Amino acid sequence: MSEVKGGDTLCFFVNGKKVTESDADPETMLLSFLRQRMRLTGTKSGCGGGGCGACTVMVSRYQPAAKTVLHYSANACLLPVCQLHGAAVTTVEGIGSTKTRIHPVQERIAKAHGSQCGFCTPGMVMSMYTLLRNKPQPSMEDITEALAGNLCRCTGYRPIVDGCRTFCQEANCCQANGNGGCCLTGDEATDKPGHVAPQLFDKEEFLPLDPTQELIFPPELILMAETASQQTQTFRGERMTWVTPASLEDLVQLKTRHPQAPLVMGNTNIGPDIKFKGVLHPVIISPTRVMELFEVSETPQGFWVGAGCSLSGVKSVLERLVRQFPTEKTELFRALVQQLGNLGSQQIRNVASLGGNIVSAYPNSDLNPVLAAGNCKLSVISNGGRREIPLNQDFFVGFGKTILKPDEIVVSVFIPFSRKGEMVRAFRQAPRKESAFATVTTGMRVFFPEGSRLVRELSVYYGGVGPATVSAAETCTAIVGRPWDEQTLSRAYDVLLEELALPPSAPGGKVEFRRSLTLSLFFKFNLEVLQRLREMVGTGSALKTCHCFGRNASDCFNSLIYFQDVITDELPEAVQSGIKPLPKQIEPSLQEFQNVSEGQSDQDPVGRPIMHRSALSQATGEAVYCDDLPKTEGELFLVLVTSTRSHAKITGLDVSEALQVPGVVDVITHKDIPGKKVRTFCGYDEELLAEKEVSCVGQMLCAVLADTKAHAKRGAAAVKIGYEDLPDPVFTVEEAIENKSFFEPHRAIERGNVTEAFKSVDQVYEGEIRIGGQEHFYMETQSMLVVPVGEEREFKVYISCQWPTYTQDAVAETLAVPSNRVTCHVKRIGGAFGGKVLKTTVLACITSVAAWKTDLPVRCVLERGEDMLITGARHPVLGKYKVGFMNDGRVVAADLQYYTNAGNTLDESVLVIEKILLHMDNAYNIPNLRGRGSACRTNLPSNTAFRGFGVPQSIMVVENMMNDVAVVLGRPAHQIREINMYKGPSLTHYKFEFDPENLLRCWEECKTKSDYDARRRAIDQFNQQNRWKKRGMSIIPIKYGIAFGESFFNQAAALVHIYKDGSVLVSHGGAEMGQGLHTKMQQVASRELHIPSSKIYISETSTNTVPNTCPSAASYGTDANGMAVKNACEKLYRRLEPIRQQNPKGSWESWVRNAFFEKISLSATGFYRGPDCCMDWDRMEGRPYAYFTYGACCCEVELDGLTGDYRTLRTDIVVDIGRSINPSVDIGQIEGAFIQGLGLYTLEELKFSPSGVLYSRGPSQYKIPAVCDIPLRFNVYLLPDSHNPHAIYSSKGIGEPVLFLGSSVFYAIKDAVAAARSESGLVGPFPLDSPATPERACLACASPFTLKIPASKPGSFKPWALNI
Ligand SMILES: Cc1cc2nc3c(=O)[nH]c(=O)nc-3n(C[C@H](O)[C@H](O)[C@H](O)COP(=O)(O)OP(=O)(O)OC[C@H]3O[C@@H](n4cnc5c(N)ncnc54)[C@H](O)[C@@H]3O)c2cc1C
Ligand code: FES
Ligand code: FES
Repeated sequence: MSEVKGGDTLCFFVNGKKVTESDADPETMLLSFLRQRMRLTGTKSGCGGGGCGACTVMVSRYQPAAKTVLHYSANACLLPVCQLHGAAVTTVEGIGSTKTRIHPVQERIAKAHGSQCGFCTPGMVMSMYTLLRNKPQPSMEDITEALAGNLCRCTGYRPIVDGCRTFCQEANCCQANGNGGCCLTGDEATDKPGHVAPQLFDKEEFLPLDPTQELIFPPELILMAETASQQTQTFRGERMTWVTPASLEDLVQLKTRHPQAPLVMGNTNIGPDIKFKGVLHPVIISPTRVMELFEVSETPQGFWVGAGCSLSGVKSVLERLVRQFPTEKTELFRALVQQLGNLGSQQIRNVASLGGNIVSAYPNSDLNPVLAAGNCKLSVISNGGRREIPLNQDFFVGFGKTILKPDEIVVSVFIPFSRKGEMVRAFRQAPRKESAFATVTTGMRVFFPEGSRLVRELSVYYGGVGPATVSAAETCTAIVGRPWDEQTLSRAYDVLLEELALPPSAPGGKVEFRRSLTLSLFFKFNLEVLQRLREMVGTGSALKTCHCFGRNASDCFNSLIYFQDVITDELPEAVQSGIKPLPKQIEPSLQEFQNVSEGQSDQDPVGRPIMHRSALSQATGEAVYCDDLPKTEGELFLVLVTSTRSHAKITGLDVSEALQVPGVVDVITHKDIPGKKVRTFCGYDEELLAEKEVSCVGQMLCAVLADTKAHAKRGAAAVKIGYEDLPDPVFTVEEAIENKSFFEPHRAIERGNVTEAFKSVDQVYEGEIRIGGQEHFYMETQSMLVVPVGEEREFKVYISCQWPTYTQDAVAETLAVPSNRVTCHVKRIGGAFGGKVLKTTVLACITSVAAWKTDLPVRCVLERGEDMLITGARHPVLGKYKVGFMNDGRVVAADLQYYTNAGNTLDESVLVIEKILLHMDNAYNIPNLRGRGSACRTNLPSNTAFRGFGVPQSIMVVENMMNDVAVVLGRPAHQIREINMYKGPSLTHYKFEFDPENLLRCWEECKTKSDYDARRRAIDQFNQQNRWKKRGMSIIPIKYGIAFGESFFNQAAALVHIYKDGSVLVSHGGAEMGQGLHTKMQQVASRELHIPSSKIYISETSTNTVPNTCPSAASYGTDANGMAVKNACEKLYRRLEPIRQQNPKGSWESWVRNAFFEKISLSATGFYRGPDCCMDWDRMEGRPYAYFTYGACCCEVELDGLTGDYRTLRTDIVVDIGRSINPSVDIGQIEGAFIQGLGLYTLEELKFSPSGVLYSRGPSQYKIPAVCDIPLRFNVYLLPDSHNPHAIYSSKGIGEPVLFLGSSVFYAIKDAVAAARSESGLVGPFPLDSPATPERACLACASPFTLKIPASKPGSFKPWALNI
C-alpha cells in the first residue's frame, strides 16, 4: 500500500472535458473548483452547507458490475473534488447555452417564467435535468421530489413547477372547466364567447426533449472503472491528506493507523463540521472504492445492506424488496422507505451513506430510531476482527457518539424481515414538511402472537428528545405482556411522559411541543395498531362502541384506547383522520389576466406576458452576478471579524497572530478609514467598524484581507478581541419598554375621539399579537468588488445593491473623495427584498477602505451565516389593541400600540414605524382610531427594510383584532371584515381621499372565484367528520399605498442611446433584482420608439450613466423609472420625426442612420418628477402615497391537530394592478410575495440565544418556504377593467402589497385551530402569535396530549431561545 509517498493524480470530467489535478487539495469542494479554477460560474453558492440546492450539479459514475452509468444530483458545495476521481460532472453550462442550443429544461423553466432573479435557476435546472436523465417522462411526484431541496426566494415555485410539469406524461389537467375541459386550454377562462383567454406561455413552442442529444459518458472513464487500480490513492493538500484505499484490508489498516481520521462517504456531516465549526482533520479516509461497503446480500432472516450505500440507493433497494416480498415481511422496509423519503433532499440522499447516518448519531437522525426499533444490527470490522453489534439503546451514548471504537468500521447493516403479527411504523414532525431535520422522529415496533392482542414485544425509539436517539424502554415494559387496550395504553402515556421528560431549557427549545409530540406520535402508532389488529386478528368479539370516541376533550383521550377485546370493526372515520396523510399533490392552477386591446400592434409588448429579459441567460448559467466577475490581478478577499458580545467595551484588538496566517495581507480597523467613520441616518450615527464599544453580537469590528477567502477566514479566526461586558443588555421588546430604551421619535396618529368612543360601544375587547422577524434570505448573499482605478483616487464599485447612488455617496464620504470619483455598477441582484440598501452600503464602505489602503481590488462576499448574523431582518413587532364594537359587528373605536424590535442602530426603524401607523386601518373604516408606534433599541443586530416595510406587521394587528371581534360575537370573520370595510368615497385616518370601489370588487371577485360560501359549508362538514384533522379558511383584504412618503424620493431619470446600427441601449436608475424591472423598461422603450424589444438592451445600472438615483423600493420602480424611460424615448422619437416624414416607408435603421448624418442627437435623458407625497405628523394628516393597490386572498388549509402540520389546499388571489404592463412579471410578483408572506406568517423563525446570539444562521436552522409549501391549487386573477391615472400606462405598483396576503394562510390555520379547540370544549378568542408554526398551531389546538404537558413556570428556568 503506497500511502505516503507523493500525491496521486486526480482525474475526472467536467462537461465532457477531462480534468487532471496532480496536487488536488482535499479541502477544495467542487463548487469552488468549478467557479474559481474552471471559471464555470453558472453553479451558484447560496449556503455552502447542502441546504439550498443553488449549487446542484449532476454526477455520473460508471458501475462496472452492472455495466451501467448512474446519474445523480448532488450539492457541489459538499462534494470534495478528491471524491470525484473517475466521475463525470455535468454543470448547467454543460447542458445548453444561448450561443449554441439551449436545453429544453432551461427553455421551459425560463419561458414558463420560473426565473426571476435567476440565482436559484441553475440549481433548479440541474435537479430537473438529472431527473430527466433518469426518467424522461416523470410524474408530478418525481418532480416535486427532485425540486424539494432547491430553494427559491422569488418565484413562489408555481411557475417552476409548471415549466417542469410540461415534461410529464400524466394528465395534468385540473378539470377546472368541467366536462373534461382544461383550464390550460382557456376554454372556460374567457371573458366573452369566442374569446380565447390569454396564456402565460405557449407550450407548443417548446423544444422537444431528445435524450439522444445528451452528452455521452466519457469512454475513458468506463475504461478507468473497468481497469481500476488496486493501489491506495493519496491526495495531499495544504493541511489535509486524503487517502482512498482500494480494499477492505487496506481500509482496516489505514483506520488502525489513523483511528481519529473520519471515513468520508457523502461528506454531509464531516463537510459542514469542517466548514462551519472549523474542525480540521489532518487525514481523511475515503472508502468509496471498498466494494464490501456497497454489497447487498440476502439471508433467511433479512438483508445485509452495505454501510457505504447511499440513502437513495438504500431506498431503491428497499422499494424493490417491498415489491418482491409479502407485505407481512416488509413492515420494517416500508417504515424505512417512508423515513428515507422525508430525510434531507434528493441531493443529500444521493450522497449521504447509511453508515454515515448511523455513525453520525444525530439526536434527530431519522433512520436510527427505526433501525433500532426494528432490531437491526451492524457488522463492524477492525484490526481486532469482525463483530456484530445490535443497534439498540446501548449503541447511542451521546450527541454524535456511539459505542464504536475509533478504529472500527461499519461494513454493513442487517435489516430483518418482519414476522407475522409484527408492525413497524415511523413518524416524524419537522419545522418544514420536506428538506428539514425533524423536531421529533420515531420508530415503533410491536409484535403480537397470532390471534392475540397481548403484546409480546414492543420497541419504541425517539429522536429529537435528547442528545441521542433514545428508547422509551420503561413505556415498553409497561405494555409488554398486556393486552393492547385502554387500560394499558392510558398508563403508558403517563410513563412515556415521565420517561422522556425534557428539561424546560433543553437545547433546541420547543420543549412543550416536543413532549407533546412524543405522546401524539405514539397515539398515531396506537391508531395504526388498532387498525392493523382488526385486520390481523380477524373476526372475534365485537368492538365496544365508543360514544365520545375522539369527540370530547379529555374523556376522549382515555377512550381513544377503548378496545376491550379483539378488534373487528373499522376505526371510526373521525378517528382515522389521525393517521390519514395530509394531501400533497400539486394541481395545475389558474392565472387570469386581460388580453391587450384588439387594436394594439403585434410589435407593442406592453400588456403582454413577456419573459424576463434575462431568463434564458439565467437558466443557462450565463447571467453574471457580482461574484461571477473574474478575479483580477492581485485581488484580495475580505472577511469580517464581528463581535461575540452583545454589549461590551472593547479592551483590546490584537491582530498580530492573524497577520502571521499564510496569505493574510492586512487587517482593516476603524483607524484606517480616511474619511467619515460613521453612516448617519435620520440623525443617528452608525459606526462602520466599532471603535470603543459593541452593542450587539455580529457588529463589525475589523476586516481581514488575504489572497484567498480560505486564508482570510483563517486570519479572521486568529484576531483576538478583548471585551469588558457592560451590564444589562436589552434584548426583548418588554425589556426595552421597562428600560425605556427607544429610538426617537415615537409616532402617534388619531382620528375621531377614541377615548370618548369607548364609552358608547356595546363591547370592548383587548388583545395582543407578536409578529416575528424575517430574514431576507435573498439567494445571493451580500457581494461586492471594489477596484481602485489607479489614478486620481478613482474607484469602481461592482455591487449587488438596491441603491447605487447611496453606495456611491457613502463610499465617497468614507474615502474622503468627491462622488465623481466613485462609480457604482449593478448588473443584476440575486434577490434583495429591502435587505440590500443600508447594510450593503456599510459593507461597501469597509471594502472600499480596504481597496483604498492596499491599492488593490478587494472582494467581499458574505457567507450565508455571516450574512444572516450581520445584516438584520424584518422588525419583530409586538402589537397590542383595544377594540370597541357594537353587537351588530361595527367597530367603532380601536386603540393600537406597536413596538418594533429595532436592534442596536436606528437604520430605517422610525420610517418603518411611520408606515406601520399609516397602514393600521388596512381596509377598514374605523371612525375612532388611534395608533402609537415606538422603535425599541435593543442589543440585537439592527433590523432594516424588508418588502412591505412594516405594513405586513401593521395590518396583522388590525386583522387579528377583526378576527377576535368575530369570535367574541360568534360570527364568521369575513362578515365582520365586510361590515367594517371602506365603502364609497372615503377618507383614511390621515385624511387621504380615495375610492375603495376596486377594493370591494377584489373582495367580491375573490369570494366568487373561491366559491367561498359553498367551501365554507364543506369545511364545516369535514370538521365534523374528522376528529384530528381540521380544515380552516379565511379571506383577507389589502389596501397598500404606493410611492415614497418622502417626496424627493419620487423621481427618476433615464438615459437612452440609439446607436448607428439601430440598436438601443437603455439605462435607468432602477436595479434589476428579479422583479422584472428591466423587462418592463424594455417594453416601455419598445412601445415609445415603435421598435421590437429585441433591438433594445439594458446592460446595467450605474451611477455614471444615470446619477442621483433613488432606491429601487416601495413598489415604485416601474412607476418612476418607466416614466423616465418613456420621457427619454419620446424625446428621441420626436427628434426622428422629420427624418421619418422624409422617408415614411424607411426602416428604423435607415432613419437612425439618416438622423446621424443630419447631426441629430441620438442620445437623450429622461426625467420623471413624481407626486409630492408627504405626511405631516404634527397635524396627523397628509398624502403620503400616490394611490393604493388593492387585493383579496382566500386560503384553505388542512391541519393535523396532533402535530400542527398543515397544508395549504387552495389559494385564490384577486389583485387590482390597473392595466398590467407585463402580466407574467406581475403574476410572478404576486405569487412570490404571497409565498414570502406565507413564510413570514407560518414558517420562518429567527432564534436568538439568551445572550443575544443568532442561532438561525443557515437554511438548516431557518426554513423559508420550499416547493412543499405552495398551495396545492394556486389561482391568481388580475382584476379586469381597472385603470390608474397615477402611473405609467394605467398600471399599478405590485412588488410589495401581496406579501401581506400570505397572512390568509395564518388566519386559515387559526380557523382550523379554533375548530380543533372546540373539540376540547374551548370557545372564544385565543392567542396565536406569528408565525403559526406547527409548534404554535399544535399547542394552540389544546389536544388531550398537549394538555397533559405540565407547563414550566416562567422565570423558574432560562429558556433556550429568547422571545424577542
Ligand atoms: C442539508 C442536510 C439535511 C439533512 N437532513 C437530514 C434529515 O432530515 N434526517 C436525517 O436523519 N439526517 C439528515 N441529514 C444528515 C445526513 O443524513 C447525514 O449527514 C448523512 O447520512 C451522513 O452520511 P455521510 O455519508 O454523508 O457521512 P460523512 O459526513 O461522510 O461521515 C459522517 C461520519 O460517519 C462516519 N462514518 C461514515 N461511514 C462510516 C462507516 N462505514 N463506518 C464507521 N464510520 C463511518 C465518519 O467517520 C464520520 O464521522 C442531513 C444533512 C444535511 C447536510
Ligand atoms: S450552496 Fe450548496 S446547497 Fe446551498
Ligand atoms: S428566481 Fe429563485 S431565488 Fe430568485
